[in-house]
Amino acid sequence: MSSADLSALNSRFAIPGHVQFKDGPGGLAIAEIANRHAEAMIALQGAHVMTWQPRGQEPVLWLSRFGKFAPGKSIRGGVPICWPWFGPHAEDAKLPSHGFARTVMWEMLESKALSEGATFISFGMIETDATCAQWPHPSSAQLRVTVGAELKIELVTRNTGSAPFQLGEALHTYFHISDVADMAICGLEGCAYLDKVGGGSACKTQQGPIVIESEVDRVYLDTEADCLIEDRGLKRQIRIATRGSRSTVVWNPWTDKAEKMGDFGPEGYRGMVCVESANAVDNVVTVLPGAEHILLAVISVEALAG
Ligand code: BG6
Repeated sequence: MSSADLSALNSRFAIPGHVQFKDGPGGLAIAEIANRHAEAMIALQGAHVMTWQPRGQEPVLWLSRFGKFAPGKSIRGGVPICWPWFGPHAEDAKLPSHGFARTVMWEMLESKALSEGATFISFGMIETDATCAQWPHPSSAQLRVTVGAELKIELVTRNTGSAPFQLGEALHTYFHISDVADMAICGLEGCAYLDKVGGGSACKTQQGPIVIESEVDRVYLDTEADCLIEDRGLKRQIRIATRGSRSTVVWNPWTDKAEKMGDFGPEGYRGMVCVESANAVDNVVTVLPGAEHILLAVISVEALAG
């Protein structure tokens, strides 16, 4: 972004002690947030929350040190937004996996210092001829983020047209963990899931907490409870509470897939797990004309009991 554009952003939306706009990695414009509760970085490309670190904590989000930061390329880590479909497009395999929202520019809508010291910031996706060609449904997408002791992310989709549409989406959150062998994910016990490893779609039922000892790529359906990432190495648990999210995706590429992807770095997969708040597969949402759908995730960190 040019320095003139950055200074225009700063003069409209910077708030001392809360938010300023900078050139980030690969020349991507970022909102840098620092308040008394936490620090965070959000790229305007994709409205992509890249980092969030509550004061006194290790980073909560995982961001690859080997990622390619470039215009039009999705960032490996943080919270990519999958929208308006999740995974491959249902009818056209040439369209980008996970939709286009994560690789297009978003504009700043508002920034606000909240009374309890947190920072609120919101973005609107910029529609282009290319996005309209891929998604011919009049609609808008906004991301509202509150950075504080908790990280609150709301993805708001409005149907501005006269026909209903089906929406697939995810807050594809990469969490930083001490080591994949030292963590378990609770909250999905008894849920049905599609096991996508190896391109399959077998339907299985989760027995007990999730432990990861090989590639995991699962879409859990009709999920309601909070998810907890219990991290024995960091002696903490990450809580993910959601609303308007009927699916939860759990993903770790493990060795071979991470190596093929090329942006995880050696052993990078060991320090991350994706727990994605989503509406996918059978849980896609029908948005009626004039209606809006909100996908909300609230992420917080707690000491691990015992
Ligand atoms: C997960 C999918 O949500 O995202 C996986 O379930 C996929 O199948 C992963 O590999 C990463 O996708 P991408 O497009 O960011 O490499």
